[in-house]
Amino acid sequence: MSTTLITGGTVVTSTGRSEADVLIDGETIAAVLAPGSTLLGHDLAGSVDTVLDATGKYVIPGGIDAHTHMQMPFGGTEASDTFETGTRAAAWGGTTTIVDFAIQRYGERVMDGLAEWHEKAAGECAIDYGFHQIVGDVNDDSLKAMAGLIDEGVSSYKLFMAYPGVFYSDDAQIYKAMRVGADTGLMTMMHAENGPAIDAMVSELLAQGKTDPYYHGVARAWQMEEEATHRAIMLANLTGAPLYVVHVSAKQAVEQLAAARDNGQNVFGETCPQYLYMSLEDQLGAEGFEGAKYVCSTPLRSKHEHHQDHMWQSLRTNDIQMVATDHCPFCMKGQKDMGVGDFSKIPNGIGSVEHRLDLMYQGVVDGKITLERWVEITSTTPARMFGMYGTKGVIAPGADADVVIYDPAGHTSIGLEKTHHMNMDYSAWEGYEIDGHVDTVLSRGRILINDNEYLGTKSHGRYIRRAPSQYLI
Ligand code: URP
Ligand code: ZN
Ligand code: ZN
Repeated sequence: MSTTLITGGTVVTSTGRSEADVLIDGETIAAVLAPGSTLLGHDLAGSVDTVLDATGKYVIPGGIDAHTHMQMPFGGTEASDTFETGTRAAAWGGTTTIVDFAIQRYGERVMDGLAEWHEKAAGECAIDYGFHQIVGDVNDDSLKAMAGLIDEGVSSYKLFMAYPGVFYSDDAQIYKAMRVGADTGLMTMMHAENGPAIDAMVSELLAQGKTDPYYHGVARAWQMEEEATHRAIMLANLTGAPLYVVHVSAKQAVEQLAAARDNGQNVFGETCPQYLYMSLEDQLGAEGFEGAKYVCSTPLRSKHEHHQDHMWQSLRTNDIQMVATDHCPFCMKGQKDMGVGDFSKIPNGIGSVEHRLDLMYQGVVDGKITLERWVEITSTTPARMFGMYGTKGVIAPGADADVVIYDPAGHTSIGLEKTHHMNMDYSAWEGYEIDGHVDTVLSRGRILINDNEYLGTKSHGRYIRRAPSQYLI
């Protein structure tokens, strides 16, 4: 077992910051000490195997991205990052844990889907990983299987109110699944958009010759998101199921969540960097077919309606609890270009797993969130929300030594030529400049990134058996 001492840094957690040294013994954090502490009169730095100097830098718990889709079969193709390439890119950006989605497709069995995803990920991941379970066919057999998910370390499942004919569940199916969620303590995750109404609008737009990527955003209007969010909240209220709404982009959907929370309901919301930085007009409406790069669901919202500002504000006020990426990358060539002449054929998804920590840190620099809130929304809350807190999401004795040394005086220029490790032929974040830099990344005590060098392996990442949400009483 090797020992590491991180010296001279500012340890930042969700509750505060302090000057402290962090002692790592093997895979776990052994102690958080006053700077320059000694051990039985010996200089600690002289007694450990490795010393990492973090002077002037932040020492934070590794990022947890609780919404990724590595190699997801979707939209007639497959997400271009494998577990190997996607988790390596995540490590580059300071994310040391992902929670990906195992999929039960229509006509398949839930546990077969979970087994398939275990097979895809095992031995391929640079960082630790867990699974949520997508239930794409709610029937009696699925409902029984859902009750066994917690024993598999899968304490959350996802339903879709969108994508009819693919993952869609109707209200009766949602109601039945939520009953199981309420009884078992599974967190219900919801893709909240009114899929049937969206499909009707897509047909109308295409019939009018409106085929550009921009119309993806028009068809998936905020009313579609607000209505579905409200319906999901009401069904959760009725059944007593805890509800976590994924990739929230419309300010009206946030208002629904906030009202339900004010009403005492266990309802939570996640947003993604694209909804904080990008818009319907500037990205989806880009020249020619460029907008395809930014086709994702829920879609980017109008800047004239100020959804983006509202989303930052919601992060500050805790109307939205955390930020994940919904990382679902597709290349322009051979994937996104399937939708030339028909926006509905563009595979939905943006790749961001590498940049979440940086993009959210820019929110600290810009005065939109505090340093502590940055740690909370990118690591601590995801850990608590999805049953990993204590081991993950915190710098404290006994926790996994998943640690990032972040340099606030550093700089990151995001772009294909400079900082791109995701398996995509473009970057949705090309040209973004970040006033900070991920210097060093440790996962369970092992250095994965140091001085712009990758030192990890694809066999390092371990499956995490998650407990029920620690966000619930
Ligand atoms: O556009 C998206 N979000 N693609 C991934 C699938 C999903 O809905 O989360
Ligand atoms: Zn979704
Ligand atoms: Zn997703």
